[in-house]
Amino acid sequence: GIPRFVKIVEVGPRDGLQNEKNTVPTGVKVELIRRLVSSGLPVVEATSFVSPKWVPQLADARDVMEAVRDLEGARLPVLTPNLKVILQRSILFQQCHASVISSNLWVYLQGFEAAIAAGAKEVAIFASASEAFSKSNINCSIEDSLVRYRAVAHAAKVLSIPVRGYVSCVVGCPVEGAIPPSKVAYVAKELHDMGCFEISLGDTIGVGTPGTVVPMLEAVMAVVPVEKLAVHLHDTYGQSLPNILISLQMGISTVDCSVAGLGGCPYAKGASGNVATEDVVYMLSGLGVETNVDLRKLMLAGDFINKHLGRPSGSKTAIALNRI
Ligand code: HMG
Ligand code: MG
Repeated sequence: GIPRFVKIVEVGPRDGLQNEKNTVPTGVKVELIRRLVSSGLPVVEATSFVSPKWVPQLADARDVMEAVRDLEGARLPVLTPNLKVILQRSILFQQCHASVISSNLWVYLQGFEAAIAAGAKEVAIFASASEAFSKSNINCSIEDSLVRYRAVAHAAKVLSIPVRGYVSCVVGCPVEGAIPPSKVAYVAKELHDMGCFEISLGDTIGVGTPGTVVPMLEAVMAVVPVEKLAVHLHDTYGQSLPNILISLQMGISTVDCSVAGLGGCPYAKGASGNVATEDVVYMLSGLGVETNVDLRKLMLAGDFINKHLGRPSGSKTAIALNRI
């Protein structure tokens, strides 16, 4: 049967806004997160502590996190691709008369360390089931990424910070094409073994159908308990809702969504946004599944960001209900 409660993980402020052409001002991001939290969503992924050269849209991660760190009612995880503390010696001042050259140690924090310093209480790491996508997204091989992520997971464990693990390209890759389920199961198990409390399975380019999603889930469920799995589906081919329904029937009870269908992935050309949160909430309410989300308030959050971006909603439910 279908789970009675589904946990929705809202990824719009991160996965959505990382791919919008126009960079959204920090204040708008913060207001969007506030509105999403007040609609009852239990988890709102807030931003990413990644390289601003790779994802300029989220270069203000620290300011966003510092502004939302004390919001109550939802968990606010952030993406952290690495542990980074950069030490740099720089000469601060010279006192000529005493001929003293004093150097000071500056510490730059990036990745996990910066996220924690800004107030993040939960983080996410993101691996790939496709070698080519790993290279283009995080500039390293799958194995190298797992080494890096073990370090992040270890640092998080020391601080009792929960870590979520993503696997990208779980059914298809823009370069490699079809991805074997065994490869996805391997990466998912590695993330689980290093301590991730949840593994989110990403159809990054939205090519999956129940025909490919079911064998992939079967392979992963053979090595990671189903309670720890989430689905993260981009809606490029309009297959997200059938894929979510079949995932629920297989026992998955955590679904990633993006308000108004915002998003995509900057390193997966042509990929569209995640399944719209409003559409998932509508379907789940039709199935009698609890989510704790107030659809009207969620739609207001969607209207807010759509107006700012000057684009129509990517949610069919929001468009339909706004006409009534
Ligand atoms: P790199 O270039 O290999 O890293 O990037 P590096 O260690 O060689 O450092 C190079 C430069 O980046 C240095 O700066 C570092 O300081 C800086 P420079 O000396 O040149 O001025 N740097 C950082 N700056 C800020 N924060 C950091 C950081 N790390 C290094 N954490 C890296 C490797 C992973 C950092 C880079 O490739 C990167 O940031 N990639 C971001 C990829 C990304 O965010 N992709 C989108 C999210 S994943 C996704 O959307 C899929 C998902 O939704 C699931 C699905 O749909 O399937 C999760
Ligand atoms: Mg994604």
